[in-house]
Amino acid sequence: MHSTIDMRSDTVTRPSLEMRRAMAEAEVGDDVYEDDPTVNALQERAALLLGKEAGLLVPSGTMGNALALMTHTRPGDEVLMDTDAHSMLYEVGLPATLAHVLTRQFRSRAGIPDVEEIEGCLHSADLHTPGTSLLILENTHNRAGGTVIPLDVHLAVAQLARSRGFSVHIDGARLFNAVVASGVPASEFAACADSVTFCLSKGLGCPVGSVLCGTEAFIERARRFRKMLGGGMRQAGILAAAGLYALDNNIARLADDHRHARRLADGLTDAPGLTLEKHEIPTNMVYFRTQVPASQFAERLAAHDILCGAPATIYVAKSEAGRRAPGAPGVRPVPNRIRLVTHLDIDSEDIERAITSIRSVGAAMNA
Ligand SMILES: Cc1ncc(COP(=O)(O)O)c(C=O)c1O
Repeated sequence: MHSTIDMRSDTVTRPSLEMRRAMAEAEVGDDVYEDDPTVNALQERAALLLGKEAGLLVPSGTMGNALALMTHTRPGDEVLMDTDAHSMLYEVGLPATLAHVLTRQFRSRAGIPDVEEIEGCLHSADLHTPGTSLLILENTHNRAGGTVIPLDVHLAVAQLARSRGFSVHIDGARLFNAVVASGVPASEFAACADSVTFCLSKGLGCPVGSVLCGTEAFIERARRFRKMLGGGMRQAGILAAAGLYALDNNIARLADDHRHARRLADGLTDAPGLTLEKHEIPTNMVYFRTQVPASQFAERLAAHDILCGAPATIYVAKSEAGRRAPGAPGVRPVPNRIRLVTHLDIDSEDIERAITSIRSVGAAMNA
């Protein structure tokens, strides 16, 4: 009997026995009173890793991004982000509903922003226009296939931000995948931004949690918004202990996930009925297109005990270069896009079994 191979996301991992032991043994207090020693230790550790003054444990990446938006902006401000950013597409409209900001989108090249294009989108506040007060960059970029935004792009953006007076937030849900893939320390990416969130609950393998980092003053304001949104947790040291365990044990091993994703893509390169979106796999995600609707493909694959991501509504850039072609609508629905994500509950045998099954489903559905 084989087990189910779940590659819908890297959020599906289950805490290991060692992680559970660390959680069970965690010393706890009431974190709303700021006296949970394990939460405090995680926050200090995260801030140190990112070279920031302070950190704040939050229940999710979405809440980390929400707090950054609410703290950096005032209602009516303009916030710039990639058309395909998670904050744009998958956070249920929170920039509008919680932060009351206008979003302005720029188009990146496969997840990598063009600094001139960003500059062209900036607004200074005057009688008529809202000012641009925040830019969000996503590293790694999920919808673009786990792309790593290179450090030189972050540096150029940081310089622009200083000269034009806007803040930068990194949605680093998978920042450590970028760190491991590029060899650039997290603190160097973080130095190019005013705030950063990273998720413990994705490739790092924790059940819950993200950490938002920034200056002490920023984190103090963000803490009030966390309370407002109901994110003040009490004996959260149980969760923080998992985070500390993950920072000690689960960062370097992300290289295995990247290797597995590359092997998966290699194994699917000439698969019948499928087209890989890219052959160079930067981190832990493989996207491909099917000739049949993605939901049907996913259903057939599930019969082989392999789960993949086949989101119902998905949009991609119109032109291959990732730039809007003149006169083109910019985005179009893509009902045949599949995502596979590698993570710490997937080993190399799983990858080989997945390749065999995906190839056979591809062949059967296109016979
Ligand atoms: C890039 C990115 N940012 C933020 C999030 C939100 O994280 P959470 O699911 O913990 O709210 C995700 C979730 O997949 C993500 O991929």
